[in-house]
Amino acid sequence: MISSKLNDAFNTQIDNELASAHLYLSMAAYFESISLPGFANWMRIQHQEEMAHALKFFDYVNTRNGRVILGGISNPTTDFESVGAALMQALENEQKVSAMINKLYEISSQEKDYASQVLLEWFITEQVEEEKSVTDVIDQLRISGGEGAGLLILDDKLAARVSEPEPPIQ
Ligand SMILES: [Fe+2]
Ligand SMILES: [Fe+2]
Repeated sequence: MISSKLNDAFNTQIDNELASAHLYLSMAAYFESISLPGFANWMRIQHQEEMAHALKFFDYVNTRNGRVILGGISNPTTDFESVGAALMQALENEQKVSAMINKLYEISSQEKDYASQVLLEWFITEQVEEEKSVTDVIDQLRISGGEGAGLLILDDKLAARVSEPEPPIQ
């Protein structure tokens, strides 16, 4: 059985993952609106990944005989100044989530909940990948020049991204 302190913290994280999903779907809508379907596809897959993260915590709390209580999520940003500004916001969001996951790991250590530490180790590794993947797109945007043919070539490249099946936790 999971402690009530960790149960509450995981419930908060489920909402945080859902808020990330909502933000990336909002970014997908923005990219669609400026005719960059490849960037929109990339963000749509980010949305799916965040939904999978939320469900991973959801399933874990239930497996540990906890109780999932969902809270509300706030409105996502809808207007972005530029392609680069949207991507920078995505990176900042991932950095914030990494700090949240680290905090959860700290709480699970204090609570001596080793099973939760194993779960969170998966998320710690995942966050390294999440920060890298958005940083890669930011770098490629800079290399492309961020407009004209370079931007369209990058959009085509991002259109090719497909969702990968979630690896098992352990
Ligand atoms: Fe996530
Ligand atoms: Fe993420």
